[in-house]
Amino acid sequence: MSGKSLPIGVMDSGVGGLTVVREITKLLPGEDVIYFGDSKRMPYGNRSEEEIVFLANKIIEFLEGKKVKAILLACNTVSSQIEKLAHNVPVFGIIEAGCMAAVESSDAKSIGLIATVATVKSGVYDRTLKQIDRRRSFVSNDSRKLPQVINDQLKHKYLLNKHIHECIDPILEKGDITELIMGCSHFPIIENEIAELYPGLKLINPANKQVQMLKDYLESNDLLNPTKAKNIEIYTTARINEFKESLDRLEIDNYDLEKISLLD
Ligand code: SIN
Repeated sequence: MSGKSLPIGVMDSGVGGLTVVREITKLLPGEDVIYFGDSKRMPYGNRSEEEIVFLANKIIEFLEGKKVKAILLACNTVSSQIEKLAHNVPVFGIIEAGCMAAVESSDAKSIGLIATVATVKSGVYDRTLKQIDRRRSFVSNDSRKLPQVINDQLKHKYLLNKHIHECIDPILEKGDITELIMGCSHFPIIENEIAELYPGLKLINPANKQVQMLKDYLESNDLLNPTKAKNIEIYTTARINEFKESLDRLEIDNYDLEKISLLD
């Protein structure tokens, strides 16, 4: 197999990274994808830095074993630890992409950010934004529960709306916020629900920019897959039903879905 025809690896703690897969199918329709979602151990955002790095390295090892040509870290929590990860192929985090997308989308000085506990605590979004544009800053809030509710209780509308409000309302109470980064891979899955509750708020999905950055890399290194045939292989460590629900919601089809174990 030549470098061009090797697949793209995508990793996430659960179903959230499927929003990145959806962007790949739009922007890079010739690329094959191998996806790993560690639903059994999600949310990563409530874990320690050591656990996050350990688990992420295991998944990277798995994807490299499948001979991927690059890996996208769809998980913001894992991306916040990108400098500590061990890898042999290029790895693209999602945090820089999110900051760049926000800066490109408006001139707002204060930008809203919703993310996991670990992502907000790491301060990586704040540091990255300052490197891109010193004049801007985040008003951020975390959620312990929302990623998990999206991962496996998506049908519980009351619960979903309750956690959306608990996460976003405190940000809007703090200031004049017009744009909000969905800084957890799971949040773009409920983009429509968030938009319905906050019609005036511009929502930023970092996945678009992340896949654009991958495309630039593949083009400049002559690694774009020229064929049109596309395979999406999805591996999960928990029940496959929750994956089917999210795949349907994101209108991703033609995939193979398999349950496997990561550590046991
Ligand atoms: C999580 O595992 O806690 C959510 C994924 C993310 O941080 O993007």
